[in-house]
Amino acid sequence: MSRCLPTTAEGQLKIDVLTAWVETEWLPAHPEGNLQTVLDTPAIINHIALNKLPKDFQFKGDYTYTGLREIECPVVTRISQFTWQAERRYQTGAFLYRFDPVEAGEPVEVLVLGTYNGEESYQLTVVSVVPGDFIPAWVHFANECARLENTIEPESKVIVVGGRTAAFTPTTKWDEIILPEKLKADILEDVSSFFSKGIQVYTRLNLKPFRKLLLAGVPGTGKTMLCSALASWAIEQGLLVIYISSSQKWRDDEPAATFSKIQHALDLAANSAYPTLILLEEMDAYLHADQKAQVLNVLDGSEAALNPKGTLMICTTNYPEAIDERILKRPGRLDRIFIIPETKLAVDAEKMLRQYLGDMWQESHSRLVPKLVGYPGAFIREVAIHALTQVAYANAESLEYSVLEDSYKSLKEQLDARDDFLTQRIGIGLQPIALHTNGN
Ligand SMILES: Nc1ncnc2c1ncn2[C@@H]1O[C@H](COP(=O)(O)OP(=O)(O)O)[C@@H](O)[C@H]1O
Ligand SMILES: [Mg+2]
Repeated sequence: MSRCLPTTAEGQLKIDVLTAWVETEWLPAHPEGNLQTVLDTPAIINHIALNKLPKDFQFKGDYTYTGLREIECPVVTRISQFTWQAERRYQTGAFLYRFDPVEAGEPVEVLVLGTYNGEESYQLTVVSVVPGDFIPAWVHFANECARLENTIEPESKVIVVGGRTAAFTPTTKWDEIILPEKLKADILEDVSSFFSKGIQVYTRLNLKPFRKLLLAGVPGTGKTMLCSALASWAIEQGLLVIYISSSQKWRDDEPAATFSKIQHALDLAANSAYPTLILLEEMDAYLHADQKAQVLNVLDGSEAALNPKGTLMICTTNYPEAIDERILKRPGRLDRIFIIPETKLAVDAEKMLRQYLGDMWQESHSRLVPKLVGYPGAFIREVAIHALTQVAYANAESLEYSVLEDSYKSLKEQLDARDDFLTQRIGIGLQPIALHTNGN
């Protein structure tokens, strides 16, 4: 006998023990109903899944599940396993699961035997004894338990896949993001109309309701802010929001940005059957040679599990040149690309400077504004913060224009020195490539 098969002390397979008991004890005492012995999923003895079943859920043949009761059975162990939040997960033992017909008729009972496999294993063996006519309803019930075992529901936080924390609350407000108003409005319009109307359109056209947007731009232009503000918006709408993080490795021998995290997030979305927003930051990091093909397939939708309620994935990148043409130019892989620019208008640069200087802002500071145009928001924020720290160190009451200008100069010098260094090192500089946008 193979070593990995679960056996009892007498060397018997656990499943044989359960089945032998069914055949010698249970079936002779229950000759009616053409009973079938079925090997089942542990999900049916998972109380987290069972508790998620809606009370009025109708299984095939119009039956609802109305609860279980424990019975005596000498061949199963009775053990409960709890989550760290003290929720009962698996409960082993022998149980009768009861199903009531929605219309008049007799209830149906199904015997479920669940037990741990053997001494060395936490594997569960679950065997059910089901009336022949009830098999379609029972399979439906087991499938629903298996789905609910892994499902998550919208909550007031963003659910994190692959990160150090399980969830976080996004804090960015839409108004704090300073970008051309039309661009902001277009992004929000694209996202909101997918959830309000787009999903029905995709479904009517027999397409997977899976839309993918890319926010591309140099570092520090507000892409992460946009993701955070869209996450807040989505939570308010009752959507499920999942953030794919590359902060923690799932396996030591793999990079932290892996295809399997994207796949897992899409599976969660599909299992949840809620409209879902998925955020994938720094998408370029997931496109390393060995996994690129898989990521491409996911973007095509060919390898993504289907979420009938619709999934919108927003990706960001600082390095669109790292995303090759197979993604950028092939229709359907990315549905729309938004370029998130450095500050273009003096009014925006001034708004940004005012926002980050707060109470310290004075009209005289507006002289610096023309110099700030063309820089990313993160740079303008750094200039403001650097100036404010100088005020604090000098115990000054207000921010002199000269201090602000010095902050600008010293940060610009640092930036220029870094750019020169990179240009020399790379030889060709970091040329942003021309992106082909569609619909924008
Ligand atoms: N468009 C913007 N409007 C307001 N603040 C910005 C903007 N862009 C960047 N910032 C400031 O710079 C910080 C870094 O920006 P971030 O969104 O992380 O940039 P990205 O993700 O594009 O690299 C933000 O937290 C914010 O303080
Ligand atoms: Mg970012």
